[in-house]
Amino acid sequence: MKDIKFFKRQQVPLEKHKARVIQALELKDIDERKKVMEEAGFNTFLLKNKDVFLDMLTDSGVNALSDFQLAAMMFADDAYAGSRTFDRFEAKCQDIFGMPFVLPAHQGRACENIIAQTFVKPGDVTIMNYHFTTTKAHIMINGGSVIEALIPEGLEIESEHPFKGNMDLERLEEEIKNNESVAFVRMEAGTNLIGGQPFSLENIKGVSKICKENNIPLVLDASLLTDNLYFIKVREEACKDMSIREITREIANQCDIIYFSARKLGSARGGAILLRDHDVFVSMQSLVTLYEGFLTYGGMSIKDMEAVTVGLEEAMTLDMVEQGPIFIEAMVDRLKEAGVPVVTPAGGLGCHIDATKFLEHIPQEQYRSAALSAAFYMVSGIRGMERGTFSEERNEDGSEHFASMELLRLALPRRVFTLSHIEFCVDRMIWLWENRHLVGGLEFEYEPKILRFFTGRCKPIGDWAENLVKKFKEDLPDSF
Ligand code: F0G
Repeated sequence: MKDIKFFKRQQVPLEKHKARVIQALELKDIDERKKVMEEAGFNTFLLKNKDVFLDMLTDSGVNALSDFQLAAMMFADDAYAGSRTFDRFEAKCQDIFGMPFVLPAHQGRACENIIAQTFVKPGDVTIMNYHFTTTKAHIMINGGSVIEALIPEGLEIESEHPFKGNMDLERLEEEIKNNESVAFVRMEAGTNLIGGQPFSLENIKGVSKICKENNIPLVLDASLLTDNLYFIKVREEACKDMSIREITREIANQCDIIYFSARKLGSARGGAILLRDHDVFVSMQSLVTLYEGFLTYGGMSIKDMEAVTVGLEEAMTLDMVEQGPIFIEAMVDRLKEAGVPVVTPAGGLGCHIDATKFLEHIPQEQYRSAALSAAFYMVSGIRGMERGTFSEERNEDGSEHFASMELLRLALPRRVFTLSHIEFCVDRMIWLWENRHLVGGLEFEYEPKILRFFTGRCKPIGDWAENLVKKFKEDLPDSF
């Protein structure tokens, strides 16, 4: 898309697809938005989609399907055991990643459950570029802990580093030396919680070498691989002439185990674990049958498995992998221009707003990124996702575990939103930026023990929600 140059108009991201099925949207007025936000405990996860105008909560399971994916769903071979659909899915995974063994699971965290149960014993550590919420929860539940060895630039909000998701190789070696029992090393592609930031091919090669020298398995979380592939292709000099498929295979060659959420990679719903070691494969089989289902569906709907098979093939094309990142880049550029603090360079998955700078007057213990996410819904009808302290687990002693980054993520599921949606989103974000002093903090009313961000409920500290709505109506009296 980027190589189609405009003659006189400003260059904008240009879709290489058209919409053939649409879903109507409704934008409720601001009083109603405030009311439903209160009912949702100021947690955007608890909003009903009917009250949401643009759903930028996540890309998970909500990327647009292609015509070929939809068509594939119609010839799915529905069988409990031995389905031809699984044969096609298995063959596609083997073909793309070059791993001999394939286990299906109902989604990414189901893979994490099986991997953690297989490898993590009480007292073990796992070392990773950065944690993901569900990954860490599964490791902790099995008595293990997480060490993050991300390069320091990874936690800088504004940076020019092209690969902020890289592992710090010296730290990795040090941590391996200092810890007796390392269950595995994990690399996360398109590192979610630091703003969808990639690792380089060179970096994962370095990680793999260290793992091999120390006889530690290297696990790749490939859920956000699609974005990472794009960044390797355009930012890593040594890879610019490689195809997306070649880059994928080169990454896979470095790993012992690959797992992914097919709600992201493959753009449908499901998940899989890919393995090289036959013994590990056999020991995981019993966990798949126990938690997921028979080995040829693993909790996935057969229709979705068929769509994932096509989705994986589509993810091997540049048109597909670049669609997300170039729209995100356009959004980041517009916000940056307006002075709104955003994570740079633009990453994958979505645009990430820096809540620390946006709401520096709100103390971190009052969940400033959750407050930003609630406030933004109220002024725009757009649902984003908090990625900060509210999404963290408390420490064992019950004290608050402050996130290294406080972000509001506005996800751009692939092939779903248009440039005018992005313009609207940017416009409302600029309004909120100019009125940020009106936003206040949140406190818990109900706080679940595990993964509290999904179902926790909050209330605002003070009457800031009323003041925000009042000012919005003064500034935009005739508008939703
Ligand atoms: N790993 C990564 C990097 C993820 O982003 C996710 C999910 C998972 C694992 C778990 O996969 O949801 O299929 O069980 N991320 C979603 C998100 C929830 O919105 O970022 P899952």
